[in-house]
This record gives sequence, structure tokens and C-alpha cells, in this order.
Amino acid sequence: MQRLADQLRATGKVGFVPTMGALHEGHLTLVRKARERCRWVVVSIFVNPIQFGPGEDYRRYPRTFARDRRLLKEAGADVIFYPDVREMYPAGYSTYVDVIGLTKYLCGRSRPGHFQGVVTVVTKLFNIVKPHLAVFGQKDAQQALIIKRLVRDLNFDIEILVAPTVREADGLAMSSRNVYLSPEERSQAPVLFQALQLGVQQIKEGERDANRVKRAIRRLIRQKSNGKIDYVEIVDIERLMPLKRIKGEVLLALAVYFGRARLIDNIIVRV
Ligand code: PAJ
Repeated sequence: MQRLADQLRATGKVGFVPTMGALHEGHLTLVRKARERCRWVVVSIFVNPIQFGPGEDYRRYPRTFARDRRLLKEAGADVIFYPDVREMYPAGYSTYVDVIGLTKYLCGRSRPGHFQGVVTVVTKLFNIVKPHLAVFGQKDAQQALIIKRLVRDLNFDIEILVAPTVREADGLAMSSRNVYLSPEERSQAPVLFQALQLGVQQIKEGERDANRVKRAIRRLIRQKSNGKIDYVEIVDIERLMPLKRIKGEVLLALAVYFGRARLIDNIIVRV
């Protein structure tokens, strides 16, 4: 891949979309964004073991390579990088990359070590694929922010593009993990986006007390689903620090368990 990357770079701009596969329209939108802006589009498919905690879903994470390959061809990707776990982490592997601070809150709190795994694999992928541009999704807002900080702090010569969240018709954010939902859970899951929208509406109507907005969001989720709330947070968009008063640009973010599926969603509001 590194040899091919040099050839690609020599003949045009290289766009890169890292994924864990089980592709859906959200991923494909990122591929199309890269397609619009670059001569070459590389997509990686790698279920990265080191970003899963003990007891998380690494083993049962959906793996659908044949279908992914077909979808990527249709979306206009040129290269699929599909490495083996032993190639990425051979015996004796010992280097990890950490972004501090930003990884403390939100998903970083409930998934210790997760972002170290993400940042480490993305660093490796950047060094292997050597792209000019890499595209990430707003669906994973914290991840996108952390990757931007990584690129800035370690001087990666890569432009980071963040694309809006793609949703199902009923508002549920598309996710490879939605396949874990039972029919009943699937019918309840759109409450996550509805609750975020309720929060936005309250802020637009003048509410500035973050706790009140968070309570309203939690209440709606409890009323309309059996989801088990991991967190509902309102944080400042730059440092991801939880806010008491809502001002400037803020991120409303949540994580909720539906059965064994942990779903996340978020929305940005500017006051
Ligand atoms: P994965 O969950 O497969 O997501 C790959 C990319 O697709 C991420 O940038 C994610 O934000 C984006 N994405 C997922 N669902 C989306 C949606 N509904 N709308 C828009 N974009 C969406 O995120 C990862 O993999 C991994 O952590 C990875 C970065 C590949 C490192 O292992």
C-alpha cells in the first residue's frame, strides 16, 4: 500500500476514507466527498481491535466485505486497503498515540482507551496511505475533533474534511451498529434524534441552563424508549468541556444503550 500510495500521489490528489466496514450510506457519502475533490480515492476497511474495550463488540462487529467492495466500486472508490490484524499489530507491537484533554469527556469517559486506539490506528493509516485529504463523519463528532487536533499537533500534511451525519428517513443516524437492534428497539431508536431536536428547540426559545435542557432530553428518551442512557451532554465545541450556561457554539451529544447496541448521536447549535 505504501508503494502504491507513492505512485498515486505522484499522479494526483489522494483522498482517504478510513472505515471499519459494514458500510452504509453515511460511509458512502464520505467516499463521494473524497471523489469530488480528488483524483484517487482510497478506502480502508479494518475492524481495529485496539479501539474496542473488554466486553465490547469487537468479535461480533458486522463484517460484510463482499458487499462493501461492491458498494465502494459503485461509489467510485479506486483502492480498498483491507489489512489483516497481524499485519497492523505484529507480535511486539508497542507504540500508541494519545491526544490528551479532548479524550476525557463524552465517549472517552465511558470507553477508556477507545480514542487511544482510534488515534493510533488513524496515525498508522495516514502513514500507510499518505493521503492529501481525509474525510470523517460528524456522526462521530468527538472523533473528528480529536483527529483534527492530532493532525495539527503532529504536523500531518493532510487536510481533514468533516461531512454531515446521514440519517434514515425517521431521523436515526446511520450506523453499522444499527443491525444489532431488535425490531422493537429499532422502532424506538429515532427518539435519540427527536430528543436532540427538542434540546435545540429549547435553546432556540431562549433556554440557557444546560441542566434543564439535558433533563428534557433525558425525559423524552425515557418516556419513548427502554434505552439506557450512558450520557447526555452539552459541551463547548472546541474543548468538549461540559457547560453550565449555554453560549456560543455548543455540541449536544448523547450515547444510549438499546439492548447490546450502544448508539451515539449529536447536533451542533449556535446561540
Ligand atoms: P466507522 O464507524 O466505520 O466510521 C467510518 C467513518 O464514517 C467515520 O468518519 C464516521 O464518522 C463516518 N460515519 C459513520 N456513520 C455516519 C453517518 N451516519 N453519517 C456520516 N458519517 C458517518 O469511525 C470509525 O469507523 C473508526 O473509528 C475509524 C476512524 C475507521 C478508526 O478505526
